[in-house]
Amino acid sequence: MPDKKSVLVVDDDAQIRALLSDLLKGNGYAAREAKTGAEAIAAVEKQRPDLVMMDIKLPDQDGLDVLKSLKKERPELEVIVMTAFGGSSSAIKAMEQGAYDYVTKPFEIDDLLAALKRVFEHADMSSEVATLRLELGKSAAERERIVGSSKPMLEVYKLIGKVAGSDATVLITGESGTGKELVAEALHRASKRNPHPLVKVSCAALPESLLEAELFGHEKGSFTGAMTMRKGRFEAANKGTIFLDEIGEMTLGTQTKLLRILQEREFERIGSNLPIKVDLRVIAATNRELAEEVEAGRFREDLYYRLNVIHIHMPPLRDRLDDVPLLVEHFLAKFRFKPDAIPTTISEEAMARLGEHDWPGNVRELENAIERAVVLSRGQPIMPDHLPLAESPAAAGGKARTRRGTAKDPIQAAAEAAVDEALSDAVGAALDKAMGGSATGTAGSATNGNANGGSNGNGADVATGSGGASFKEAVESLEKRLIAEALERNGGNRSKAAEELGIYRRLLYAKMREYGLGE
Ligand SMILES: Nc1ncnc2c1ncn2[C@@H]1O[C@H](COP(=O)(O)OP(=O)(O)OP(=O)(O)O)[C@@H](O)[C@H]1O
Ligand SMILES: [Mg+2]
Repeated sequence: MPDKKSVLVVDDDAQIRALLSDLLKGNGYAAREAKTGAEAIAAVEKQRPDLVMMDIKLPDQDGLDVLKSLKKERPELEVIVMTAFGGSSSAIKAMEQGAYDYVTKPFEIDDLLAALKRVFEHADMSSEVATLRLELGKSAAERERIVGSSKPMLEVYKLIGKVAGSDATVLITGESGTGKELVAEALHRASKRNPHPLVKVSCAALPESLLEAELFGHEKGSFTGAMTMRKGRFEAANKGTIFLDEIGEMTLGTQTKLLRILQEREFERIGSNLPIKVDLRVIAATNRELAEEVEAGRFREDLYYRLNVIHIHMPPLRDRLDDVPLLVEHFLAKFRFKPDAIPTTISEEAMARLGEHDWPGNVRELENAIERAVVLSRGQPIMPDHLPLAESPAAAGGKARTRRGTAKDPIQAAAEAAVDEALSDAVGAALDKAMGGSATGTAGSATNGNANGGSNGNGADVATGSGGASFKEAVESLEKRLIAEALERNGGNRSKAAEELGIYRRLLYAKMREYGLGE
């Protein structure tokens, strides 16, 4: 006959113990009880329960310490930690100490039973959890920087706690401003790699060639401007963690190189063929839907699977509005009116307003709103007037949500695109005319200097068009026309012409002399 699974309930509250025992017995488990940490440790030794459900607040000892010693004695023992309030710090800590799950009181009975079932169905998880690292990185203050106790955030903390100790690649997704970078930091801090660096690279900030130089480093002289050998970020991150932010913006070429590093943990500096081995953990983040990017052919499918080993999705703030008061408190403490002032308070009306907002910019938007309000209210309680939120909650209802923080209002974006197109048409036409033929191609690297320098061109950078004027001549001809026309429009007023052209008067004079314009 199969033994009943036995569960030890550890809580100093007799009512909770009774309630849980009843629930357990009613569901086919054997239940025992303990009131204190010391009793729990003794009971585990004697009775060898299959599972412990333990309050984190115990009268005699810190529940986390009890958890630690239980796991030390019996690493395979599963523990579900219970707490009256959720916070990132205790949840992450409990998971790091090897807790199997973390539930907040008051619990939903169904949640609890589901958690129990999971424990017994997935016994194999225990080995993974047991290998999690015990010591913790930095101070509690730093660890507590992820604020929020809503259900979705608890799930995030649990996942962080579970995967922090492993070397698995993690992909963090979520809208802009939801805290992806904070999660990357928490993962690194909670990992065994935390004595080593966490190196962050934004894949959106640099064009492809510079990003590759940044990531892989380069040998001296490997390209124009590479005056010295430079180590890349992958080397800098050795033994630590590399955080590849905005990975969705990486070009396909760079993706291919990244894939190789993920597969072989090896790469070469640009301009070298000496392979360099690195030992690092990769965390990537994006506010794009990578699966869609794969569909669209903009993201390599194999890379996607390599990155997506563990996926942490950051819920948007509008889906966890119950976190708003905690976050507000957090930011009020952060942005004091004066450095040593006590935190500004907030009126009920203002808080209600924050609790109704749609938060398209997520936590970042809230953080900015509080920072502004603290300044505007000059240390007095914050009123709704101090909160010029982007739009009223009513208006936000039907609004398309921007997935990317940098996304513009579509009308504005369309207008800008139209202007760009018109400009490039005009330039193209002018060049055609100037070169007496078709001028195609883009003048990518033609920005090498202040026109003031005038004749410093040694010709090295001047590409000669195949069948017409040189690039330099074309530019000069265009310049000449632009200046002549501006002068004409402004009745010869040089100041006005310079202003219209957006150049200094001195430069205009120099150009006029150069092109023989005016007298
Ligand atoms: N849960 C949170 N608790 C406290 N602060 C938070 C939280 N989430 C975000 N923040 C703060 O909001 C700001 C934005 O967070 P973060 O930079 O991590 O967002 P992100 O998801 O990386 O956004 P993006 O996609 O735009 O880069 C930061 O100042 C961060 O400290
Ligand atoms: Mg970010």
